[in-house]
Amino acid sequence: MDPQDVKTNLVLILDFGSQYTHLITRRIRALNVFSLCINGTSSLKSIVDLKPHVIILSGGPHSVHAMDAPCFPSGFMEYVESNKVHVLGICYGLQLIVQKTGGEVSVGEKQEYGRMEIEVDKASGLFGNRKVGDRQSVWMSHGDEAVKLPEGFEVVARSKQGSVAAVENRGKRLYGLQYHPEVTHSPEGMETLRYFLFDICGVTAGWKMEDVLEEELKIIKETVGPDDHVICALSGGVDSTVAATLVHKAIGDRLHCAFVDNGLLRFKERERVMETFEKDLHLPVTCIDATEQFLSKLKGVTEPEKKRKIIGNEFICIFDAFAHDLGKKLGRKPLYLVQGTLYPDVIESCPPPGSGRTHSHTIKSHHNVGGLPKDMKLKLIEPLKLLFKDEVRELGRIIGVPVSFLRRHPFPGPGLAVRVPGDVTEGNRLEILRKADEIFIQAIKDAGIYDSIWQAFAVFMPVLTVGVQGDQRTHSYAIALRAVTSHDGMTADWYYFDYKFLADLSTRICNEVQGVNRVLLDITSKPPATIEWE
Ligand code: XMP
Repeated sequence: MDPQDVKTNLVLILDFGSQYTHLITRRIRALNVFSLCINGTSSLKSIVDLKPHVIILSGGPHSVHAMDAPCFPSGFMEYVESNKVHVLGICYGLQLIVQKTGGEVSVGEKQEYGRMEIEVDKASGLFGNRKVGDRQSVWMSHGDEAVKLPEGFEVVARSKQGSVAAVENRGKRLYGLQYHPEVTHSPEGMETLRYFLFDICGVTAGWKMEDVLEEELKIIKETVGPDDHVICALSGGVDSTVAATLVHKAIGDRLHCAFVDNGLLRFKERERVMETFEKDLHLPVTCIDATEQFLSKLKGVTEPEKKRKIIGNEFICIFDAFAHDLGKKLGRKPLYLVQGTLYPDVIESCPPPGSGRTHSHTIKSHHNVGGLPKDMKLKLIEPLKLLFKDEVRELGRIIGVPVSFLRRHPFPGPGLAVRVPGDVTEGNRLEILRKADEIFIQAIKDAGIYDSIWQAFAVFMPVLTVGVQGDQRTHSYAIALRAVTSHDGMTADWYYFDYKFLADLSTRICNEVQGVNRVLLDITSKPPATIEWE
């Protein structure tokens, strides 16, 4: 599909703060239609400039009657009418449409939360060829309800309790669903979205990753001048690797990457990622061994945040020096920096009204160990900034990043420093941890469960306990095993291993890792714990 066609088929989501908003964007992209999400109170100009074919108003935690209830900008209803834009309101979005076009919304007599049945009230409406009386199960989450519809609107479906579940005004191209079609608890929700987009709105599907690739390559080539140079810090993670590979495809060896070994990497990590960079991806990467530099700065430091800060600052110094040296070697300063920023990071940095969140970059700042040196004055290239993680994996697959690499569990920037509580440099703690971790991860891979786990790792317990090994009394350390399932790392549950698997693992770790005589399993979810131990 031509990039122009993708833009003319844009489905724009106006976000009013529902926890499900991003899911709407993803569901629509899964239908091969390009979808973007912006703050629901954005200016009319920013909406008009995007020239959306369809606009979806999301749900939200507010009542439309609240003083601070978020609303689309004034002039919005006139704009959609005169430009023949189709609009679908979901939950709060439906109530906004009703209230702003002359109807009435009030607190429902019976509030509806959770799974409900709805019944089709009007044939050939929003539900395609469903007959009057057909039922389906949907996910409701609302206190207010539409009690009087504006002129021209019809009820298309009602809940079992009789309240309005779906409305439409075909003449004005306005539609509304009181429930959430985007969640899996509404099993027929996707069918309704599909019908709405393709049959009612006439959207053409055709957005696919190959087109994204072509478009991104074009943008990078147009942005970076023929003699300009670009730098990138590779962490060994999926995002920076895919971003760098993409830029490399566009500008070749005018991209210069650095991979820093801070002495806090996993077993053979440096060799493994460098091999992928060189052999599979042919990326120009300088490997900087800064082990001594990091570990000497961390000596005697026990406070977790201090450890993080030291690592972050050190990284910046090293990367700064890399850029400086490169500038000297090339005879001109690199002008651009590639970052693997993803769409959720972009959205989270401008949270929707009513979300209770402020600038959430502050929540994540400690996660960005490779934060930018402020005085480097580099322009950013962020080729993944409109993509979700699974889309980045798909893009990575297309450009030849090995699938085993794309599936790697996340690894924190401060590395093993957050998995050795206290002073990481004491004794051979890091060595012990690396060996135990490798046995754990390899066992998980051998058991075929690596892909069912969000993240698994070993943690070094700086506690000496008594044991007995081969008739000898030992005074050795313990290793904790942590494995969690999660969708985004924000919440997590511990992974339920098979007992036999755990028993074998414990035996192996105590036998094969000198200095360990005890193995523990972390069975705490997040919250109350975090995934990492520090
Ligand atoms: P927590 O421990 O906060 O971790 O539950 C959530 C996710 O973030 C990763 N994590 C980090 N990543 N720098 C990073 O780049 C950090 O300082 C950091 N701390 C935690 C963690 O591995 C998990 O995936």
